[in-house]
Amino acid sequence: MSLDIRACDAAQLPMDLLLEADPHLPHVQAYLATGHCYHAQQNGVTVGAYVLQARSLGTLELMNIAVAPNCQALGIGTQLLQHALHSARQLGATRLEVATGSFGHQLTFYQRAGLRVYAVEPDYFLQHYPEPLFEQGLQHRDRLRLAIDFG
Ligand SMILES: CC(C)(COP(=O)(O)OP(=O)(O)OC[C@H]1O[C@@H](n2cnc3c(N)ncnc32)[C@H](O)[C@@H]1OP(=O)(O)O)[C@@H](O)C(=O)NCCC(=O)NCCS
Repeated sequence: MSLDIRACDAAQLPMDLLLEADPHLPHVQAYLATGHCYHAQQNGVTVGAYVLQARSLGTLELMNIAVAPNCQALGIGTQLLQHALHSARQLGATRLEVATGSFGHQLTFYQRAGLRVYAVEPDYFLQHYPEPLFEQGLQHRDRLRLAIDFG
C-alpha cells in the first residue's frame, strides 16, 4: 500500500499518535505550536507523523516521530525518518538532533539512519515527566541526545 508523506497543519496530527512517542501532553502542545508538522497517510488514513522544531541556527530537532501501533515494524517509521532527514535539509538545517530513552528499539532505529549519541542527560525522565515511564519492564531514567550533521 503506498504511503503519502507530506507537510500538514498541527491540527491534522492525531494527538493519540503523538502521545505514543511523548506521553506528556504539555510538552507535545508546546512544540506543536511552533514546529513543522508532517503526516504519513495510507488511503487517506493517518498512520504516522513527525514534528521538526528549530533548536538553534542551522539545527533542527526531531521532537516527535510515531507510527500507529497496528502499523509498526512494517518499515513506515524508517520511511518517515528518511523523510525527516530530507525535510531538515530542505528547511536549511545542517544538523538534525533527537532525544530518546537510553534503551529500546528506538535507539537502534535512529543509529541505523546515521544519528549518533553525543550527550547523556542523567535523570531527565525522572525530573521532567510527572509519571514514571516504563518500557519492556524497565523504567526510563536517563535521556540520550543523538545528532547527524549533513556533509
Ligand atoms: C519508533 C517507531 C517510530 C519506529 O517505527 P516503525 O514503523 O515501527 O519502524 P520500522 O518498521 O521502520 O522498523 C524499525 C526497526 O524497529 C523495529 N521495531 C519497530 N517496532 C518495534 C517494537 N515495538 N519492538 C521491537 N522492535 C520494533 C523493527 O522491527 C525494525 O527493526 P528490524 O529492521 O530489525 O526489523 C515506532 O515503533 C513508534 O511509533 N514507536 C512508538 C513511538 C516512539 O517510541 N517514538 C520514538 C520516540 S523517541
